[in-house]
Amino acid sequence: MIFTAMASEQILVVDDEPLMRDFLYEAFRRKGYRVNVAPDGLEALQMLEKANYDMVLTDVKMPRLSGLEVLEKVKEMSPETKVVMITAYGTIENAVESMKLGAFDYITKPFSVDEIELVVKRAIDYQKLVDENRRLRSELGERYSFSNIVGKSRKMQSIFSLVKTVARSRSTVLISGESGTGKELIARAIHYNSPRKNRPFVKVNCAAVPSELMESELFGHEKGAFTGAIKRRTGRFEQADGGTLLLDEISEMTPALQAKLLRVLQEREFERVGGTETIHVDVRIISTTNRDLKQEIEKGRFREDLFYRLNVIPIELPPLRLRKEDIPLLCEHFLRKYSRENGVAIEQISSEALKLLMNYDWPGNVRELENCIERAVVVCKDRQLTPKDLPKELMKEEPSICTGGLQVGSTLREAEKALILRTLESCDGNRTQAAKLLGITTRTLRNKLAEYKRQTDP
Ligand SMILES: Nc1ncnc2c1ncn2[C@@H]1O[C@H](COP(=O)(O)OP(=O)(O)OP(=O)(O)O)[C@@H](O)[C@H]1O
Ligand SMILES: [Mg+2]
Repeated sequence: MIFTAMASEQILVVDDEPLMRDFLYEAFRRKGYRVNVAPDGLEALQMLEKANYDMVLTDVKMPRLSGLEVLEKVKEMSPETKVVMITAYGTIENAVESMKLGAFDYITKPFSVDEIELVVKRAIDYQKLVDENRRLRSELGERYSFSNIVGKSRKMQSIFSLVKTVARSRSTVLISGESGTGKELIARAIHYNSPRKNRPFVKVNCAAVPSELMESELFGHEKGAFTGAIKRRTGRFEQADGGTLLLDEISEMTPALQAKLLRVLQEREFERVGGTETIHVDVRIISTTNRDLKQEIEKGRFREDLFYRLNVIPIELPPLRLRKEDIPLLCEHFLRKYSRENGVAIEQISSEALKLLMNYDWPGNVRELENCIERAVVVCKDRQLTPKDLPKELMKEEPSICTGGLQVGSTLREAEKALILRTLESCDGNRTQAAKLLGITTRTLRNKLAEYKRQTDP
């Protein structure tokens, strides 16, 4: 990133030598800076009380108040103001001392206009970077604040209030839900709304790291712990100290690691692989899963004791098809996001397009919807999205079982009937197969079908 000095910065020059003062005043004024001068430290402090300066350039040796005293006062009064010390040849100790006291830089006399300007520019650019960084960080906080997690359904609203409450604590959270429902987004929201928000948020995907590397990934290793361990490495737990560790897809963790993790959760300490030193960390754990961990426990694949440790606060994200009232809002949100990103002005979604979006099942949940809108924005040539901008899967005339059968307002009996008929259809009328898929006996299936027949032709 290149910052040119827009040169509206305000500089205060403090020097008891009139020649030097005038030289600096002229030099910076000509470059377009706003410059004020003070003949000594006391007057400089009075001026500092009246205006905000980006930068103070001060001589070290002055009567009344020395440059070092000016520096100390400036740091007290206005910590953001950068101070550059002007030292005479042979007073380098003063320069070192001033750096320790918080000066940004120093320059030794004699110097050219270019040299001093370079020092000043560097200080100003540095400040801009700091400001930029602060802005980005707060934007990041904003991104995961609730304003950007869209959801007006009662289910999502109650999740938002739960997130706000749990964010304040350090309790362990388990977020479950189908793929693409927003588990990671919620995990980040918890972190960025918590007192830990300025500390690290570290994510480990338990499904993506090979199991033999996972222990070292989580806990780190000492040099020589295994072939290839050429130096010490800190693990994710240490990296997340003071912050939050997200264990993504926790169900994929091997039994051996589950046991190790359990110990860390109980004792809040561990050793690096190949190490003997016990390490203590303060980490908040959030885990996510798209599998039903209770079922995994029954199948003997997940430790029950670990489950209870992780599941202190459960958050279940419902699939999108069970909160369809969120679809229009989400569409709006992604439409705005991707129109802005692509520099196009698509203002709305036509009602026919919205109808298709509402009727679809969204097996890939919010992620699938997001991709769908992103793509539509790119292909759309109009000011509004219409059905032709949407993928073909959405064009099905008839609502599918999940939309037709499971829409709010339909009864359990209607949903059951729709599911049974659709399953039978997908099995080409083979009752044995359909019953197997439905998890009922062929006799039950036969009875149900007879009942439906009676309803239609009494
Ligand atoms: N309620 C929401 N509002 C806005 N965007 C959302 C919402 N839920 C999910 N998203 C977006 O959908 C995408 C998928 O979300 P996320 O990665 O959090 O899902 P996930 O449940 O972790 O998925 P997976 O199980 O596949 O890892 C992201 O781009 C996220 O920003
Ligand atoms: Mg995820």
